[in-house]
Amino acid sequence: MEVGKDHDLIASANEAIHLKLVSKGDEVLEKSESFHPEFTHQLFGDNEAIFGYKDLEIKLYYGSSSLLTYFGFTYSQKIDPSTSDGVKADDIIQILSDVLPQGFYTNQDEYMRVLEKEESNFKPFGEIINSYSLDDQTFEIRKANVDIPGFKAYHERLRTFLIWYIETASFIDDDDEKWTFYLLYHKRKDHNAFRYDIIGYMTSYNYYAYPDKIRSRISQIIILPPYQRNGHGAKLLESYYSLAEKDDNILDITAEDPSENFISLRDFVDCRRCAKLPAYSDQNLHDGFNENMANEARKKLKIHKKQARRVYEILRLKATDRSNAKEYLAYKSYVKKRLSQPFKKEEKDLLKLQKFLKPEEYNAAIIQANSQDKVQLLNDSYKAIEESYLSIIEKLALY
Ligand SMILES: CC(C)(COP(=O)(O)OP(=O)(O)OC[C@H]1O[C@@H](n2cnc3c(N)ncnc32)[C@H](O)[C@@H]1OP(=O)(O)O)[C@@H](O)C(=O)NCCC(=O)NCCS
Repeated sequence: MEVGKDHDLIASANEAIHLKLVSKGDEVLEKSESFHPEFTHQLFGDNEAIFGYKDLEIKLYYGSSSLLTYFGFTYSQKIDPSTSDGVKADDIIQILSDVLPQGFYTNQDEYMRVLEKEESNFKPFGEIINSYSLDDQTFEIRKANVDIPGFKAYHERLRTFLIWYIETASFIDDDDEKWTFYLLYHKRKDHNAFRYDIIGYMTSYNYYAYPDKIRSRISQIIILPPYQRNGHGAKLLESYYSLAEKDDNILDITAEDPSENFISLRDFVDCRRCAKLPAYSDQNLHDGFNENMANEARKKLKIHKKQARRVYEILRLKATDRSNAKEYLAYKSYVKKRLSQPFKKEEKDLLKLQKFLKPEEYNAAIIQANSQDKVQLLNDSYKAIEESYLSIIEKLALY
């Protein structure tokens, strides 16, 4: 076999991996309702490719409640080192073993035998902090921590989804009791008992905030793909927020390295919350962000000042009549003034530099600073920001 010519031997890891949530043995045999990861680069490199197999199919199935894990793979052909100058196929078992939970099953029959028992014996973790119904189905949000017996092993199964759906995911140190876990379950009746299928979860970490408070930082949030875009992410975040609002020890809430998806979810939820505050009422929105807004958002909703201002800009745009040229211009100038702050700082730094640089060095620095078209840059940034704000405003009108 000639290596490098046969592209059939290179599989897209994202396509080859089939994830599925199963609660009955026979569901393990079918591929229907499986879904694919969005990211596999942490395991299979930047190209997200698996080398050495033809028609590769990897099954990674999880018990829908217990998350009991099965891992198996099939292929029609595997590269043979003896006929390919010693080139070997990627060691899929070795690579996946790094992220899979301990005790995963590789024997399908055995997995099918154990699955149903594990599923029916499963008890949800943590205390209930909220419940809601959607389309006649009941959902429960529970708060848990690492002290709960059996939780660490369960979390080890659950966290693998982060690798598949968050580009920069990393596993947290779950020996640290400052982590809190918020688990979202679908509570459904099965004969005479209830089953708790996991829908998603989020984690937060308690940092010290001077002088005697806590800063709660959201670290990861995920809703499993079959359940996304139904409002569950918003419910999970809102439930965590309403608990934090009542907690006098919490100064404010921040987020760790927020992704685009998370920013959009948080903006939507925070706009809904802030819109109820007197400081953010429509008549107060046209004169700029003020301390009163920052204070109300922090004291009542634990929203950090930077986010409180962002929410202000979204709600002000919502209250702006964009067909009124004067009103719209006032809005644009307001946002652009904030966006131009870094340029102003750059100009100030240059003035300071003038004292220390030789005239020719100073001139070179000025040329460099002007080389980019700042006005264009400012306009482009404004356009991108307005677009993202408008998509939140659209959603606010819908839900
Ligand atoms: C980001 C994430 C947590 C959002 O969860 P979700 O349950 O899909 O979010 P929601 O359903 O509440 O809102 C998402 C969309 O559903 C729509 N939606 C449907 N019903 C809704 C409702 N009742 N309320 C709010 N939004 C609703 C909204 O239009 C929203 O639109 P958008 O995707 O354009 O923003 C989820 O997509 C996810 O897990 N992504 C992968 C992991 C990730 O990126 N995590 C963030 C980084 S840590």
